[in-house]
Amino acid sequence: MRIDKLLANSGYGSRKEVKQLLKTGVVKADGNVIKDPKTHVDPDQQEITVHEAVVDYREFIYLLMNKPQGLLSATEDDLQETVIDILQPEDALFEPFPVGRLDKDTEGLLIITNDGQLSHQLLSPKKHVPKTYFAEVSGFVTEEDIESFKLGVTLDDGYLTKPAKLVILESASVSKIELTITEGKFHQVKRMFEAVGKKVVYLKRLSMGPLQLDADLEPGEYRELTDEEVEELRNAKVFDL
Ligand code: URA
Repeated sequence: MRIDKLLANSGYGSRKEVKQLLKTGVVKADGNVIKDPKTHVDPDQQEITVHEAVVDYREFIYLLMNKPQGLLSATEDDLQETVIDILQPEDALFEPFPVGRLDKDTEGLLIITNDGQLSHQLLSPKKHVPKTYFAEVSGFVTEEDIESFKLGVTLDDGYLTKPAKLVILESASVSKIELTITEGKFHQVKRMFEAVGKKVVYLKRLSMGPLQLDADLEPGEYRELTDEEVEELRNAKVFDL
């Protein structure tokens, strides 16, 4: 990888600042001064130092965000604010992206990382990683809906959903429910309720595989995942409801 990217990702400033740093001749790879920001280095094979201090390099970043309503789950957008726009500059330097999408008006657990392999694994339809949502739904949610979701419902495009687990927390004119699904079709939760004649009026993701939304995180806040949490995500098992 390029030395300027490695240093920027390691907290030595922006790419521009790192370029200046390199010019001063204080950066070395295996003892040899590097001045050209385009120089490729291999942090696993070479010892990179700045002012003779070894650079503790890390390639990946793993963030757990409580996504607020009103932001797009995208890396950039010309008109609207995205979840990446609210990251601290030192985290954005890693060029992370959201793992899957939550709708603009959906809140809750969103993993943001630059680890493409883990992202692919979590989103793979073969893995069936369960995702649990809390929703408020206009209309009385019934036992019949539980049965329908267990069997799978047909969405507006003719797709028959995989079995999903519906738990009714409160059946009322605006019901409160939890729904666990193992796939991630576009607007899936909203469309599943449309399939049984009801409308989701509030949606929040509570969990993805083994990872739960952190109660300490207010909407718009995020934290890094621990090494153990990343490991658990990597081992997220194929799951059938
Ligand atoms: N299902 C939806 O309808 N919207 C989301 O944001 C996530 C799941």
